Amino acid sequence: MKTNIFKLFKKKQIRKLKFNYPLHEDALNEKDLAEGLKVLISRQLTMSKKTTEFEKYFQKKMGLKYCLMVNSGSSANLLALFALINPMKKNHLKAGDECLVPAVCWSTSLWPVIQSGLKPKLIDVDINSFSINLETIKKNVTKKTKAIILINVLGNCSEIDKIQEFANKNNIYLIEDNCESLGSKFKKKYLGTYGDFSSFSFYYSHQITSGEGGMVACKTKEDYDLLKVLRAHGWDRDVKKKNNRKKFNFINSGFNLRPLEVSAAIGLNQFKRLPKMMQIRSYNRNRLINNLRKSNLWNNQFAFFNPSKNLKPSWFGFPLLIDKKLAYKKDKFLDFIGLQGIETRPIISGNFSKQHAIKLYKIDHNKKKLVNADDIDRRGFFIGLPTVKLSKEKLKKITKLLLKISDI
Ligand SMILES: Cc1ncc(COP(=O)(O)O)c(C=O)c1O
Repeated sequence: MKTNIFKLFKKKQIRKLKFNYPLHEDALNEKDLAEGLKVLISRQLTMSKKTTEFEKYFQKKMGLKYCLMVNSGSSANLLALFALINPMKKNHLKAGDECLVPAVCWSTSLWPVIQSGLKPKLIDVDINSFSINLETIKKNVTKKTKAIILINVLGNCSEIDKIQEFANKNNIYLIEDNCESLGSKFKKKYLGTYGDFSSFSFYYSHQITSGEGGMVACKTKEDYDLLKVLRAHGWDRDVKKKNNRKKFNFINSGFNLRPLEVSAAIGLNQFKRLPKMMQIRSYNRNRLINNLRKSNLWNNQFAFFNPSKNLKPSWFGFPLLIDKKLAYKKDKFLDFIGLQGIETRPIISGNFSKQHAIKLYKIDHNKKKLVNADDIDRRGFFIGLPTVKLSKEKLKKITKLLLKISDI
């Protein structure tokens, strides 16, 4: 397929602002789109061979035991939690069993815990990695704790190997929400390979995109078969024994969380380009930091989000913590740079215990102990980190606008 068709798909013209630095710029190239179009033209829209190809390729490259593509990272979390409580699973969890969840989390890292009948307990995160660490886990674990949701935030992680060891030793299931950290490696192993279950997201703003999409991974064949059945209606079609000729056999409860074949085609091509995109994001991040530090207006107005020891990061966004003395200006400052064209957002969704929905479900948390989550909520925000190299002019402009925090 040659490129003339792309004349039909000229990039959407964004309303011209004087300056525009969005959280995410279109990271799709012509080959990504061509792969998607090939699937459309083949008329094989529902999950089929491309999805299996992407799953196998992803599994091999990431060093995962088993993985399954789904229609979002949220669905990956949902399947992991529903596998944990399923009666078909050996040593499955029961209603009311406790699950630790970081207070700085995404909504669908938390909701599947409630939807599956487990009892979430929000715990504080570490101020450097924005993730939970072993010390806080140990402080919060009780006899009732049967699972931990661990989120690798924005390409970073905490001491995940030690957390895995602790969870194994104490018969606690570890669910690694890696929706924000595809491609990061900790001690030579990719993030997403540590948990009993792990999730990945290919939403359009993440390290790679398939429009919407995700993967759920696990470590045993039993869990893999269970995930397949749960992904598609509770049907045995994907796990059926060859000699079983009976059709429309439902062996479990289930959902329909299957991806579209077109998402798999785009996602696979994007995944092949991940190393290049990681490299450019890292280059842009270094340039942003250097430009800020080199400016004669630099006065430690911000703290940067540094990779944990032993981590080779795959960045997603450019998070900043405003210096404590300037934190009171945050709202005014973000409004100001927003009007000047820099789009911002909270770190994940800030301290989730402050969200309205928490009250609806009376979620267990001790407000006073969520000190770092509060600090990140109060001082943190992030801006975009594109997959094309930032021009000198853009860097200069971003630096200038960010450093205006001292004046406003
Ligand atoms: C930590 C985390 N988990 C889960 C998700 C959900 O992924 P998706 O948007 O693909 O449903 C997100 C989304 O941004 C996330 O940041």
